Amino acid sequence: MALWGGRFSSGPDEAFKQFNDSLPFDYVMAEQDIIGSVAWAGALNRVNVLTDDEHQRLVAALYELLEEVQANPDSVALSGEEDIHSHVEAALINKVGDLGKKLHTGRSRNDQVATDFRLWCKQTASTIADALIAIKQSLLALAEREFGTVLPGYTHLQRAQPVLFSHWCMAYVEMLERDASRLQDAVKRMDQCPLGSGALAGTAYAIDRELLAQDLGFAQATRNSLDAVSDRDFVVELLSTASISMLHLSRFAEDLIFYNSGEAGFVELADNVTSGSSLMPQKKNPDALELIRGKTGRVFGAMSAMMMTLKSLPLAYNKDMQEDKEGLFDALPTWLACLHMAQSCINGIKVNGERTRAAAQGGHANATELADYLVAKGIPFREGHHIVGQLVQVAIGEGKNLEQLTLEQFQAVSSVIEEDVYPVLELDACLQARKALGGTSPQQVANAIKHAQQQHTIT
Ligand code: ARG
Repeated sequence: MALWGGRFSSGPDEAFKQFNDSLPFDYVMAEQDIIGSVAWAGALNRVNVLTDDEHQRLVAALYELLEEVQANPDSVALSGEEDIHSHVEAALINKVGDLGKKLHTGRSRNDQVATDFRLWCKQTASTIADALIAIKQSLLALAEREFGTVLPGYTHLQRAQPVLFSHWCMAYVEMLERDASRLQDAVKRMDQCPLGSGALAGTAYAIDRELLAQDLGFAQATRNSLDAVSDRDFVVELLSTASISMLHLSRFAEDLIFYNSGEAGFVELADNVTSGSSLMPQKKNPDALELIRGKTGRVFGAMSAMMMTLKSLPLAYNKDMQEDKEGLFDALPTWLACLHMAQSCINGIKVNGERTRAAAQGGHANATELADYLVAKGIPFREGHHIVGQLVQVAIGEGKNLEQLTLEQFQAVSSVIEEDVYPVLELDACLQARKALGGTSPQQVANAIKHAQQQHTIT
């Protein structure tokens, strides 16, 4: 039976019921709804709406229900009730009879759903925060393992300057670091309890809302009932945080898809994250990474859908807001799955250091070094840049790398170049030279790894 049947002379038609019900997707908040109800029963007991005995009986029944739900979570979805709040109330009444009908005193599904949803979000965010730490640790381990490996660094997908492979790893550690801090920040802001805001105007019972918030593990109670029941900023913030992180994961995926290509051959993904072709026996496709890249669109979609739904909604609660859940219930587990999958890719990856080194050696990636060499010989950088450009042209014409030109060839373009140019053009010298903070010199990268390790020691 619906919670609100009194003023209606006939029930909803089946198509409307299906359209309106949220139980098929909000049943995942069963635990949160029950825990919220336990706390609300406590609050009602403190203002003497429930006697101690009634309170105890209700709480015992709610915990019984919690056990049943945990044993068989999917069964909740099938009860035919309108939403998870109706379901829990009906199940409670089923257990304790009329006493169950007292629980909704002073409460509305509007403050209830806002509370349940925040609880669910906080819990899920903490699982994701752990996954972010875990993937960062895998990247750090890879950065340590491959410390000597040199990679061609790209701009415009053209070989630009050599970098350490570990420097590449640490770039993604930085991104994930920001994702984790954004998540933490979002959680801090959502850590307010709407329960006790009623339908929109506040509750008419003298509820100690700070105590209630504390009971539910929130840092504080929300301060304005109209805002509390209509605020879904926390959903938007989580979806934006997820989107930014997915954006990072998609770039990570794209880098590795390219590095794993037959043409680059820099890395080989492990069998456990790749799949074959039904037709071409030789194929080993980077499906895990492609799916990470692909699922990014879906998370972005959930974010824009939420913003569009909320835009221009009048205060306070409107049924439009029931659309807040499916996108998030899809986006956060998607984000989590992508973090796990990206981590598996990292854990099993093989890096072909010889190929990456050979590639870093080509493409005249040491041209900047030569320009810096000319600067050290007293030539203004802009002029040096031009001279090196000419030398690159000579090298291309000869089918050689810069360091393979003879001294005569160098001197034909610039007389200041001497024998001491050769050590400067060596790959390792290029890396060593990038020694200012944040650069790819082995010392700087080692510092970055150490710094990150200190931050990620789980206490
Ligand atoms: N199922 C609704 C939702 O998810 C919560 C109930 C509020 N309904 C209402 N008629 N005031 O948003």
